[in-house]
Amino acid sequence: MVNVGIIGFGTVGTGTARILLQNREIIRRKSGLDINLKRIVDRDTERDRGLDLPEGILSARIEDILEDSDIDIVVELIGGIHPAREFILQALESDKHVVTANKALLATEGGEIFETARRKNLSLGFEAAVAGGIPIIKALREGLAPNNILSIYGIINGTSNYILTRMTGEGMGFSEALSEAQRLGYAEADPTFDIEGIDTAHKLTLLASLAFGIPLSYDKIYIEGISRITAQDIDFARELGYKIKLLAITKISNGKVEMRVHPTMIREDYLISKIDGVLNAVYILGDAVGETLYYGRGAGDMPTGSAVVSDILDIARGLRGGLETRRELDFIGSQNDIEVMEIGDVESMYYFRFSAIDRPGVLSRISGILGANNISISSVIQKGRRVGEAVPLVLLTHTARERDVRKAIEEIDRLDVVSEETMMIRVEGEGVQ
Ligand code: NDP
Ligand code: HSE
Repeated sequence: MVNVGIIGFGTVGTGTARILLQNREIIRRKSGLDINLKRIVDRDTERDRGLDLPEGILSARIEDILEDSDIDIVVELIGGIHPAREFILQALESDKHVVTANKALLATEGGEIFETARRKNLSLGFEAAVAGGIPIIKALREGLAPNNILSIYGIINGTSNYILTRMTGEGMGFSEALSEAQRLGYAEADPTFDIEGIDTAHKLTLLASLAFGIPLSYDKIYIEGISRITAQDIDFARELGYKIKLLAITKISNGKVEMRVHPTMIREDYLISKIDGVLNAVYILGDAVGETLYYGRGAGDMPTGSAVVSDILDIARGLRGGLETRRELDFIGSQNDIEVMEIGDVESMYYFRFSAIDRPGVLSRISGILGANNISISSVIQKGRRVGEAVPLVLLTHTARERDVRKAIEEIDRLDVVSEETMMIRVEGEGVQ
């Protein structure tokens, strides 16, 4: 029997406990492993979580897990940096394997935790930290291990995908859609992590390190969230045949790794455009396997609990004397000569929405500046006529360099015929088809 202790009885803790208790028999039959949920610690032991626990499991004392020599696997599900970091390090120092869903902690302070797990020859499972219920970490470290990974594109934040979907499909307002995502248990304790792209970047940090072996590089990711996206941009995107998604992108280009998170327009007939609501999708291109696509629920108690329990089973198999499964920790950081590309060097197509005064000659002034900065236009939409007033002027470009685009926009925004800051959204082409 393998004994497990869960710290944090919130959304994911409850889902994990429910699966361990209700599916104990099916897990035993499938894997031959008997996983015993010995203890759950939370600071609030009174709140009704909608789950009947066996007598004596729930405690408010962290020592009941960290100092219990019978507990083999500690599951950290409180979130945040402190004291989650200290609990994990203490568990590892006490020779306990660890499972966590805490991408914020691993992406920003994971170095010491990974190093401690390596030094102690212990497992550190974090399947639930990326893309909720989708077994994407397992896919990268096992199924795709024979490949040089070339690119990854992911919709990996359920909350922002839920918000964009509700705004696109039903015209719901941003705040209302966010409140719904919070009520459903998808959002982070601080929802700005979701809507400003920070959570997506935490997950991208882990994916890129697993894919390319680079050190954890959260600080080098270019991050833009969805809070600036308006209903007007969603409508123009639709008219042009695109959807707007918050994408995490990492790929090898010219010997460097691109790492960026931003709202992205994707052609609506591409598969990844159809991933709506809380669903996540991760597209991975490997040199041997070619294109692969994984999708499923990216947040919520039971999908995330499923990923947590899959890590527990992996570790329990190892404890039984099975396969060594956790060598990915050795790969992370081993390729430290690969540089992360600066955002200015990235190439993309672009959508611009200018607030331009409706007057003859304005389009040619704007297109003149774009042309002078090596940016060529592929489509133009101008809606409505209000002579002498500002109207939206929408342009799509062919592939251009980000540095040139920023310079052009700066020049354009200084024109007396442009009344507001220009909206720019990157457009992804066939790379993610
Ligand atoms: P919740 O806030 O729902 O649950 C956290 C629980 O831990 C709460 O009951 C909280 O109590 C308790 N807690 C916090 N600090 C302590 C402490 N020091 N000692 C004891 N108990 C404590 O969070 P989630 O379940 O949503 O998230 C947990 C982790 O999983 C986070 O790292 C999150 O990023 C990650 N995650 C979440 C997903 C989701 O869909 N929700 C999906 C994938 C990953 P209190 O309520 O009083 O603060
Ligand atoms: N807040 C996260 C999301 C939880 O919405 O995707 C899952 O990691």
